[in-house]
Amino acid sequence: MTDPVKTPSQLRSARWFAPDDLRSFGHRSRLMQLGYGEEDFRDKPVIGILNTWSELNSCHAHFRERAQDVRRGVLQAGGFPVELPALSVDESFTKPTSMLYRNMLAMETEEMIRSHPLDGVVLMGGCDKTTPGLVMGAISAGVPMIYLPAGPMLRGHFAGRTLGSGSDAWKYWDERRAGNITDDEWLGVQGGIARSAGTCMTMGTASTMTAITDAMGLTLPGASSIPAVDSGHQRMGAECGRRIVGMVWEDLTPDRIITPASVRNAAIVAMATGCSTNAVVHLIAMARRAGVALSLDDLDALGRDTPLIANVRPSGKDYLMEDFFQAGGLRALMKQIEDRLDGSALTVTGRSLAQNLQGAEVFDDDVIRPLSNPVYREGSLAVLRGNLCPDGAIIKPAACDPKYHLHEGPALVFDSYPDMKKAVDDEDLQITPDTVMVLRNAGPQGGPGFPEWGMLPIPKALIRQGHRDMLRISDARMSGTSYGACVLHVAPESFVGGPLALLRTGDIIRMDLNARRLDMLVPDDELAARKAAWTPPQPRFERGWGWMFERHVTQADQGCDFDFLQTDFGRVAGEPDI
Ligand code: FES
Ligand code: MG
Repeated sequence: MTDPVKTPSQLRSARWFAPDDLRSFGHRSRLMQLGYGEEDFRDKPVIGILNTWSELNSCHAHFRERAQDVRRGVLQAGGFPVELPALSVDESFTKPTSMLYRNMLAMETEEMIRSHPLDGVVLMGGCDKTTPGLVMGAISAGVPMIYLPAGPMLRGHFAGRTLGSGSDAWKYWDERRAGNITDDEWLGVQGGIARSAGTCMTMGTASTMTAITDAMGLTLPGASSIPAVDSGHQRMGAECGRRIVGMVWEDLTPDRIITPASVRNAAIVAMATGCSTNAVVHLIAMARRAGVALSLDDLDALGRDTPLIANVRPSGKDYLMEDFFQAGGLRALMKQIEDRLDGSALTVTGRSLAQNLQGAEVFDDDVIRPLSNPVYREGSLAVLRGNLCPDGAIIKPAACDPKYHLHEGPALVFDSYPDMKKAVDDEDLQITPDTVMVLRNAGPQGGPGFPEWGMLPIPKALIRQGHRDMLRISDARMSGTSYGACVLHVAPESFVGGPLALLRTGDIIRMDLNARRLDMLVPDDELAARKAAWTPPQPRFERGWGWMFERHVTQADQGCDFDFLQTDFGRVAGEPDI
């Protein structure tokens, strides 16, 4: 711990508990109602343990226990721990999509911290949207925070084969649709693909976002790689509790950690891990909360320059997060690319990134590759522009067959997911391997909530002919565990009148990945005529959260935060001292 800069009377919580007045009497007497005495809380940092545990979040099934480990650490370091529930935003059960609720968690986190007597917080998350949601809110709240990543679940297993979250579900589903596996085998996959608490153990959105948070300096070094059920994860939890108390005394606030340098470090690490496409949206949103401008073009430039060295599925070939951990984990990966990172960036340890990386080692160089032998020479993500996506679109070159990197073909356009679903199951669908399948009205407002529909299923008619990939385009996102030649996040989305709304079945689409172009080969005057004839669709919501979401969500290239939340570190004007 570096030297304390705060005294007990300067703690934020002292406003609640210290004064000899009637209000503070009330606060203290209510702590006593909870069974605490003065010696439990007087002059101690109050640490909020923000726990996204829920019985409908299988990825966080260990969080009730883990909160006890954090509590142990807080007490050891002389803090006063209080556990608070936060919206769980689970990925598997939330309909229509968890992305509709990321900003709700961010708002809840910010306001819960602001309104309560908390001096510092441990954020417990991991399942996809929980990481950006918690971090965005805590950045805006501005108190010292440390992120406790849920950790990946164990490898999946079925009939002697290893199974990866998401990726193998899609793969075996295609095989089932092609009639290549039995119902019993399918049930075996169902029972074996998720074997323990923890987040998806491919390099999906969860592992990507926790790695980003780790690289940004917001977790204990390497914490994101520890499997959820490893005893090291419990020890990490206790250490989070001890460390946050020190951070409070040191006044180590997130604005000192999240800087242009640490955001850039996080983006580079994301590229080197073969990150989920969702990283783009969340990283932009997190950076903007910290007042750091990050654009799609910045990410494309880093993507062109950063080799993918984590051989973890789906971008990598062979391994899963448990292998990545055993090969040295994120610290070892960062050590490999240390000269590309800004080692002076400050982290929650109070030390620099370079100091945290001292002694990091790769134990298996097939899992974490040297720069001389990358999985893929260029980065994980590319940003396309053209008359179909003037504000950008994303593709994951490493996860698609290189034969699609330069492609021209006729569009087959669907206006809704149910229409598309019906067509792909039609064995007589008129389609060739050159056809470009397009789904629209699936963006932030159109989805609604920007669902993960972007890995459009390959039509049965093509699967039977042996095809497993084709060029697909949408204004949706896709799961971080997905793969294939899928262009995503087309902006502006069709629902708000982006050019995708003007595309018709039969129009020729051209993608040139090397030139970063995506165009529909339709003359400008024809597009202008179609635009003039376009009428906006009815809003999706008439009340409630969705109504507010629709009015304030920004487009994919802006991070999909709410317009009124995207501020720099400005606090709420004049917190009233009552
Ligand atoms: Fe929770 Fe994948 S479903 S991380
Ligand atoms: Mg996911």
